[in-house]
Amino acid sequence: MVAEGEIVCVTGASGFVGSWLVMRLLEHGYVVRATVRDPTNMKKVKHLLDLPKSKTNLSLWKADLSEEGSFDEAIQGCAGVFHVATPMDFESKDPENEVIKPTINGMLDIMKACLKANVRKLVFTSSAGTVNVEEKQKPVYDETCWSDVDFCRRVKMTGWMYFVSKTLAEQAAWKFAEEDNMDFISIIPTLVVGPFIMPSFPPSLITALSPITRTEGHYTIIKQCQYVHLDDLCMSHIYLYEKAGSKGRYVCSSDNATIYDLGKMLRNKYPEYNVPTKFRDFDENMEAVSFSSKKLADEGFEFKYSLEDMFVGAVETCREKGLLPKTFEEIEKNHVNGNGH
Ligand SMILES: NC(=O)c1ccc[n+]([C@@H]2O[C@H](COP(=O)([O-])OP(=O)(O)OC[C@H]3O[C@@H](n4cnc5c(N)ncnc54)[C@H](OP(=O)(O)O)[C@@H]3O)[C@@H](O)[C@H]2O)c1
Repeated sequence: MVAEGEIVCVTGASGFVGSWLVMRLLEHGYVVRATVRDPTNMKKVKHLLDLPKSKTNLSLWKADLSEEGSFDEAIQGCAGVFHVATPMDFESKDPENEVIKPTINGMLDIMKACLKANVRKLVFTSSAGTVNVEEKQKPVYDETCWSDVDFCRRVKMTGWMYFVSKTLAEQAAWKFAEEDNMDFISIIPTLVVGPFIMPSFPPSLITALSPITRTEGHYTIIKQCQYVHLDDLCMSHIYLYEKAGSKGRYVCSSDNATIYDLGKMLRNKYPEYNVPTKFRDFDENMEAVSFSSKKLADEGFEFKYSLEDMFVGAVETCREKGLLPKTFEEIEKNHVNGNGH
C-alpha cells in the first residue's frame, strides 16, 4: 500500500493513456507531476486542470523526449515515475529523427533522471508492438517474445517506426536497468480502447475505429488484434507500481478478435455505421492471435471490462466530444477518418 500524498511523475500526461492515468492516480491520493511539452497550451492541458483534486495535487512540468536533461526537474523529489510519453506520428517524414531516436534517448534520459533522484520504481508503458510484429503470427504471445526490428524496417508496414522505436527503447531500458540495478517494470498493452478525457481524437482509436471510419490503411493492424480497456490498463499500472516484488515485463491484454469478429460486433451494435463484414485482403477463416496476461493475473490483477465495453465507451466519448458523426453518411460527407481530427 502507498502513503497518501506520495509524489509521482507521469510523462505524456496530456495523452489518451497519460490523462486517464493522472485522473486515477489523483483519485488514489497521489500528488502528480504531469509532464507535457507545452504547459501553456490550454487545448492540451485543460482536461488535466479540470480534474478533481488538480488544484491541490497536480502540477504541470515542461519536458521533451528530444531534449537531454529535460525530465530531471520534474523527476527530482518523486518516489515513482510512470513513463507514458511517446512520439506517435505514423505519418512522420523523418521517422529516424522524429520517432525512433527521441523514444530511445528519452527513455534512457528518464532512467538517468530516476537514478539521480533515487526514484523507488519506474513503470514504463511499453507496447504490443515490441512483442509480435514479425513475419508469421504465433497463436499466443507472452513476455518472452520480441518483435523483429529488421522485418519492420524491411516491410515498412503502417506504424513500423513506432514498433521499432518502442522495441529498441524497451531493450535499451532493460540493459540499463540491469546494469544499474534499478527497480524497473514494463507494462505491455495491446490496442487500448475505451472512454477518454483528452479533447482530440486519440491515436489508438484511429486504428480501433477504422472499420467505422473506413481508414483502410489501419486494417492490417487490426487483422488479428488484441485489446485492453483504457481503465483496466491504467489500474494495472497503479496495481503493479504499488505491488512490492512486481518484476520484469507484464502483458496487459484482456481480449482478442479478428477484423471479421470486430466488424460483426460493431455492425450489430451500431447499424447506422454500416460497418463492412467483408475485407478483401484477409482470409475470413483466419485464427485469432492472443496475448497471455497470465503473469499479470498471477499477481492478482483482475480485468473489469469486455471488448464491447471498450468500443461502446470509445464511440460514445467520440460522439459526445463531436469527434465522430452519428452515421456513415455523415462520415462520408465529412471525410472523417480520424487523421483529420
Ligand atoms: N493507445 C494504445 O493503443 C497503446 C497501445 C500500446 C501501447 N501504448 C503506449 O501508451 C503510451 C501512451 O500512448 P497514447 O495512446 O496515450 O498516445 P498519445 O495520446 O499520443 O500520448 C502520447 C503523449 O506523448 C507525448 N509526447 C509525444 N512526443 C513527445 C516528446 N517528443 N516528448 C515528450 N512527450 C511527447 C505527447 O504529449 P504532448 O502533449 O506533450 O504533445 C502525448 O500526450 C505510449 O507509450 C504508447 O506506446 C498505447
